[in-house]
Amino acid sequence: MPRTSMKRMAVGLFAIALAVLGSNRPARAAQLTIDLGHGATRWSTATLLARTDARTITVLGDVAFKRTRHYRAVPLANLLPGLVASDHLQFVAADGFTAEIPAVLLLNKRGSTAWLAIEDPARPWPALPGGHGRAGPFYVVWTQPRAAGVGPEQWPYQLATIRRADSVATRFPAILPDPATPTDSAVRRGFAVFQRTCFACHTLNGAGDARLGPDLNIPHNPTEYLRADLLRGYIRDPQSLRRWPQAKMPGFDRQALSDGDLDDLLAYLRHMAGRKATP
Ligand code: HEC
Repeated sequence: MPRTSMKRMAVGLFAIALAVLGSNRPARAAQLTIDLGHGATRWSTATLLARTDARTITVLGDVAFKRTRHYRAVPLANLLPGLVASDHLQFVAADGFTAEIPAVLLLNKRGSTAWLAIEDPARPWPALPGGHGRAGPFYVVWTQPRAAGVGPEQWPYQLATIRRADSVATRFPAILPDPATPTDSAVRRGFAVFQRTCFACHTLNGAGDARLGPDLNIPHNPTEYLRADLLRGYIRDPQSLRRWPQAKMPGFDRQALSDGDLDDLLAYLRHMAGRKATP
């Protein structure tokens, strides 16, 4: 899914506020709060830019700007002392939009590096394309994102806070596959794809923080009422199934969701049709 539109769609309720506050706000110095559970640290724009590990990086195919970009940035892992692979982090934007990122991705064990891009008020970034406001003051960008399968939802911008939280699965057990499901199975992989690409907008079994799209299991799971080829087409391009001007769900092209990921996702959804739970 083109993540800029998707993320802003995901905060549809805030769209008006964003249009007012976001689009023409000049860049200014700001603070980033990092709370890993042992006391919050606050980083100002100036202290971050002055760090010895700050450097200029080139980001190919920047998800929010949709082109190559250069940033002053700090390796994100350097700002997260004591983080372990089993941790789970939430990246909260100024408007409350929350991206969920497992720590294992941030620890660069799989070849993708996360950077905290810092907007210098003296050299402000351009506005985001498509009227999506501004990406600053802080924006998480990736080099080699494909190595670890970093998704377009994992480039949170307008960042205000990074905090440690329980994993999504711990907070919302109703979305878990059957515990007997083998670790390396389409259902488990699809569960990860679901959390990464759909869970920001859809609840499942009534579980989750999303409020924008319909629940994907109760009362009925789309795999139960949509022909398989139509559902697949819908996820790629919602307007291929039904057309109306105010539709909010963005399509996921092959860049955002590979054919393999889509197969796995559908396996997970079919599996969950047999695990309905009433909230
Ligand atoms: C940015 C928010 C957003 C994301 C991300 C998103 N959806 Fe949606 N989805 C919606 C909204 C909103 C609707 C209701 C129709 C509309 O307004 O487009 C919807 C509708 C649907 C429907 C149609 C249900 C029906 O019966 O009409 C299905 C199926 C669906 N989404 C599946 C998915 C899947 C699977 C994913 C992950 C690959 C996903 N969605 C990601 C927002 C989203």
